[in-house]
Amino acid sequence: MLHTCSSSQTKTPTIMASISPLSFLSTNTNTSSLLPKRRHTHVAPTKLITCNASNPNNNNQDPSSNAIANANRRRDLLIGLGGMAGVAGFAYNPFAYAAPVSPDLKACGPPTLPAGAKPVKCCPPASTNIIDFEFPKNQPLRLRKPAHKVTGDDLAKYKDAIKAMRDLPDDDPRSYTQQAAIHCAYCHNSYHQVGFPDKDLQVHYSWIFLPFHRWYLYFYERILGSLINDPTFALPFWNWDHPDGMEMPSIFTDRRSSLYDPLRNANHQPPVLVDLSWNRKGADTGGDVDANLNLMYTNFVEVKAPLNFFGQAFRAGDTPYTVKTGAGSCESVHNTLHVWSGDRTQPNGEDMGSLYSAGRDPLFYCHHSNVDRMWNLWKSFGNKDIVDPDFLDSSFLFYDENKNLVRVKTKDCLDSVKLGYDFEKVPIPWAKTKPKARRTKAERAKKPLTTKSVDFPLTLEEDKLVSTLVKRPRRSRSRKEKDEREETLVLEIEFDRRLPIKFDVLLNEEEDLQFATPKNREFAGSFVNVSHTQKSSAMKTELAFKIGITEKLIDLEADDDDSVVVTLVPQYGEGVVVKGIKIDYEEC
Ligand code: C2O
Repeated sequence: MLHTCSSSQTKTPTIMASISPLSFLSTNTNTSSLLPKRRHTHVAPTKLITCNASNPNNNNQDPSSNAIANANRRRDLLIGLGGMAGVAGFAYNPFAYAAPVSPDLKACGPPTLPAGAKPVKCCPPASTNIIDFEFPKNQPLRLRKPAHKVTGDDLAKYKDAIKAMRDLPDDDPRSYTQQAAIHCAYCHNSYHQVGFPDKDLQVHYSWIFLPFHRWYLYFYERILGSLINDPTFALPFWNWDHPDGMEMPSIFTDRRSSLYDPLRNANHQPPVLVDLSWNRKGADTGGDVDANLNLMYTNFVEVKAPLNFFGQAFRAGDTPYTVKTGAGSCESVHNTLHVWSGDRTQPNGEDMGSLYSAGRDPLFYCHHSNVDRMWNLWKSFGNKDIVDPDFLDSSFLFYDENKNLVRVKTKDCLDSVKLGYDFEKVPIPWAKTKPKARRTKAERAKKPLTTKSVDFPLTLEEDKLVSTLVKRPRRSRSRKEKDEREETLVLEIEFDRRLPIKFDVLLNEEEDLQFATPKNREFAGSFVNVSHTQKSSAMKTELAFKIGITEKLIDLEADDDDSVVVTLVPQYGEGVVVKGIKIDYEEC
């Protein structure tokens, strides 16, 4: 089905049985319809935002303030026009809008843990007093440094701070145990959504992935700083995108250090090279620098549509794990580092390899510090934050360094410098590491692709390639069209979320498993699942996995073709069902 231009940020028609207190009204342009059409929320930006933004070496100013201004203008307009905003209790309101997600603290309950996990409580201490976030005044900048360069005094402070956190009693919201539990609560079903008691709040596989984890680290970092009385304390970042940082940072692997966690993969101790495309196979002697850099380019430089980078929309009332949700490229790459770091001999790859336990490893926060840095870098390449109000107003709860419970909103975290921290500027060796096509068009003509379209659903089997022909609704689009909409491969899949899973996706490549390497331009991306559970439905998870392919098809000299051959290469994890593959166009 051809989705029109506004597919990505358009809200699907939905009847809202009730509206949450956070709902607000929109004007409805389609008054003839009885169904409440949710309107397109993308606000025409003052400047044209394109998919072909600047190159990674330009440092653009931060666009977030503009985005918020636009969103706010729109909201003011809606409230002005509506006059009925926030009217609760309407059983049926054709003008009801979706709302941003927020966790219901009062209803926090026990997590759903995977088999083999020791029982654990994940809800924070109760509090009746929630304060709204305010930007701290007169704070010194906290400069986050690459972990492999943290030595001397900085290292001593980091170890002291983590030690002090470990020494706090478990019921202190700042304690090591409670900080780890935050991650468990937000992704193992402890929290439900305000206004939707039967809907879980899940911070993975959607656009709240980046803002949630940014806030999480913000409070964690400030708690550590306050425990050692150093407001300049900054969390290091695991610089896995630079050859010098492509191993588990050695500061975490000293057994006597407070930064040590015994539950990690024994084969992945330094100096074993990180494998950003790890397939859990063979001798497992480490990754390849060039392949890692190619993979960085593919996932962080050429992805331009915000939803393809951040992940799909997740609004109040949405059920996590439906084909509407899905991770962006940033989260996908981050998943592999989780699976790579965790201990494979544990039942669920604990600690890093399972979401309920990941926060128990100090490495987790250092890993996420680099994920957070990727958000800043991606914007520095000229890309823009999502401007949808349901993204900007999504909210979370955290205890701060003074044990106050604080409500934070996504819109307040778009600019890390405003939050008081930044990242040391280090070289970005992947800015120009675009992989080369394995076969040019001329070479393909000598040995043409023979794949026909296959029937769905189909189940992937380990090490067995599946190829299918996918029709392209449009071909040879103009540069302008390409800049406005990213051609996007959409894979609707179903899988068991308890399993670690990975499969690779190749374009116009049907021959051999060995070509599934990020070093080839034909390599489009990888779906990666980190083990986790959720009780709202069975362990069956449905998602739409999306990959931007505009530039790939140009480089493969395939932009004038009517269709493209898509090959799936299952790497690990049983039972993935592919329900369909199509091409869509995501707004830039
Ligand atoms: Cu909440 Cu790295 O995951």
